[in-house]
Amino acid sequence: MTISKFGKYLRSEFSFQPGYTPLNHGSYGTYPNVIKPILRGYQDKAEEHPDRWNRFEQHPLLENNLKMIGQLINCDHKDLAFLPNASQGANNVLRSFPFKSGDKVLYYQTGYINVNKTLEFLRDQYNVQLVKVDLHFPLEDNEILKLTKDTIEEHHSKSNEPKIVMAVIDALSSLPGVRLPFERLTKLVQDNDILALIDGAHALGHIALDMKALDADFFFSNCHKWLYTPRGCSILYVPKRNQGYVHPTTITLNYEHHTEGSDYSSFSTEHIPPTLDTSPYLCVEAALKYRESLGGEQVINDYCHDLAVKGGALVADILGTRVMENSTKTLTANMVNVEVPVKSTTTKSDADIVNTFLQKLIYEHNTMASVYKNNDAWWVRLCGQIYLDLDDFKVAGNALLAIANEINKE
Ligand SMILES: Cc1ncc(COP(=O)(O)O)c(C=O)c1O
Repeated sequence: MTISKFGKYLRSEFSFQPGYTPLNHGSYGTYPNVIKPILRGYQDKAEEHPDRWNRFEQHPLLENNLKMIGQLINCDHKDLAFLPNASQGANNVLRSFPFKSGDKVLYYQTGYINVNKTLEFLRDQYNVQLVKVDLHFPLEDNEILKLTKDTIEEHHSKSNEPKIVMAVIDALSSLPGVRLPFERLTKLVQDNDILALIDGAHALGHIALDMKALDADFFFSNCHKWLYTPRGCSILYVPKRNQGYVHPTTITLNYEHHTEGSDYSSFSTEHIPPTLDTSPYLCVEAALKYRESLGGEQVINDYCHDLAVKGGALVADILGTRVMENSTKTLTANMVNVEVPVKSTTTKSDADIVNTFLQKLIYEHNTMASVYKNNDAWWVRLCGQIYLDLDDFKVAGNALLAIANEINKE
């Protein structure tokens, strides 16, 4: 496989219906056809002898696949656990951490809805106080740092109030699909005695990661988005110093209470999943092998990033608008955000506009990209991928323009 094969030619290596233009990889991901027989093979093995598989044979394979993730992101595989999705990563940490009534948690309004809703649950159930930082993109990295620093200072200057104990930070946020300066944010919050929980749902297979260098307190990521595993494969990373704080959301026989966060004695056993089809977890090896056959992480992500940048510019040109970017061009990784020209005079509700784009993109134009409101304007997130090229962005741009024109005429 050479780099010249990237582009729509590669679509035949995936399962897409002919004619579909998939510009929304970031929502659900997908995996190449070569992984299908491997996935099905593990499922067949499980059925051939359910007891042998569930009690014995899946376990060394699970550990091997965790080791491969450990090598990819530079950490001890004993600091990793498999989970079916990123939402569970957030829940495992947030719902088992021993917050005291009144403790504060810092978060951003651009955080993923499931994660921010989990925070609302903590507020309602345990009286955790939520400290929101509003990010109105496009923003410079330094502005994000400053908004966060100012918020911490404001709250920590109140001597009679509980402190912020944890901050939830996206590595790459969903909508807008932008890269945050999460490495610097991690350091900033930790310098203020705040634990850093990093939502890296979009991170594995998208940006270079080094867990030892990042030294986050908690980190989770999907593998089924950008790493090309089948859906239902995510990881949670917790360094040993904090493993005593974290239990799976679904408590099982291996549960142990710890009074110290640094008691890591049961983290791995507690995260052995109850009865579950673990075959997506076992496809990490095949996904990494496929990625290696394409040239590896850097080659893949160089292509996806370059396409996102060029494709975003092309769509902005078609729509007569702009790309969401800052002066140091850090916001665009493999997802690019482009303003959509929906006029503010429209009589449609916001929910109606989102739904109109969804329905028409999927059912009339056979494509998909997420349209959302940010900072009182409409934007679309388009995802670069190895199976796309500029023609595909043109298709999406023309579809978005046609739909925006229809909405503006109504
Ligand atoms: C930033 C972010 N966090 C968390 C999630 C949740 O991922 P999952 O649906 O796998 O639980 C998503 C999903 O798109 C996301 O974009």
